[in-house]
Amino acid sequence: MALTPRLVRACRGEEVDRTPAWLMRQAGRYLPEYRKVREAHSLLDICADAELTSKVTLQPLERFDLDAAIIFADILLPLVPMGIDLDFVPGKGPVIQNPIQSPSDVEALKPFDPRDHLSPTLEAITSVRTQVNQDTAVIGFAGAPFTLASYLIEGGPTKNFGRVKSFMSNEPEAFLALMTKLREVSGRWLTAQAEAGADALQLFDTWAGWLNPITYEKQVMEHSRFVFHNLKGTGCPTIHFAVGAPHLIELLSQVGSDVLGVDWRLSIDEAWNRFSMDCAIQGNLDPTALLGSEQHIRRAVIDVMERVDRRPGHIFNLGHGILPQTPPHSVTIAMDAVRSYEATAA
Ligand code: CP3
Repeated sequence: MALTPRLVRACRGEEVDRTPAWLMRQAGRYLPEYRKVREAHSLLDICADAELTSKVTLQPLERFDLDAAIIFADILLPLVPMGIDLDFVPGKGPVIQNPIQSPSDVEALKPFDPRDHLSPTLEAITSVRTQVNQDTAVIGFAGAPFTLASYLIEGGPTKNFGRVKSFMSNEPEAFLALMTKLREVSGRWLTAQAEAGADALQLFDTWAGWLNPITYEKQVMEHSRFVFHNLKGTGCPTIHFAVGAPHLIELLSQVGSDVLGVDWRLSIDEAWNRFSMDCAIQGNLDPTALLGSEQHIRRAVIDVMERVDRRPGHIFNLGHGILPQTPPHSVTIAMDAVRSYEATAA
């Protein structure tokens, strides 16, 4: 019988032989082998090719002692087949040439079919699942409806989310129609990834922290809840992650995921004690800790581990994605610090 990956067991709050650990954005520009692939292929090219996707997904697992592979993709990929002209501009991030500005733009969005539109990612999930060992989880992911809506409406970098917030207040019906479409997109995309072989599913609501609790509860929460509710049939545990959202923690923990991911703004024990529903936790080393000395990295990792104090249901991770200027050796040190902490505390 196949072993259940330890990350899956931790998501369910079960005891595990060691704390599962992986890092958001573990595949990416801080790795020279990734930059080498990027010299010849754009981000969208990699994502459109199952073999390149698998290769890049596995790069960090070849170097580091990680408990999960997160499939290499981007939360914005489903928007392209919906009729959105998306590009990743170096130094600027994602840019959309035809952002949503009116209710008719919402209506014009085309339906998204994961198998027709993003089959390379699905093929890569199936392939990566056969290439990693049974203890290791393959994580599929998607953007949450609000974060996708923010990109669609803002169209590019923003300092204050003024466009999406004014769309929410000036066009509440069109915003509701948009969120209703996007929750189907996130839900279908994650379900397809589960069917392709993903062991766990993460929903990124990166920008939810820009909302106040009242707006989050009134215009956003039910849509993320719909996504998690519909994933129950997949049998995969789910992880919900938002950035800069300590003021939403009580609400986020009621949205229906098995795990809540927390950033570094609160100590992990304080964050966990504020969950209003019992669920597992993922986090929360500050990504900048990996820019410090070996001693600093080890101390910061031990601080997270001591605060968790072996409470079941912890997945070690950063509090947000790994920074591009991170020396790869710092990741080796951090993973060693997690493992040595457990060996000495055992
Ligand atoms: O290893 C992994 O974690 C998988 C890869 C991954 C990417 N994007 C590839 C990528 C994941 C999990 C994402 C998710 C994603 N994409 C999020 C949610 C996570 C978070 O950071 O909060 C968001 C908000 C995006 C949108 C996005 N894509 C931004 C803001 C950027 C530019 C920022 C930057 O770092 O340059 C991207 C581009 C992107 N997606 C890169 C990578 C590796 C960097 C550009 C490149 O390699 O060409």
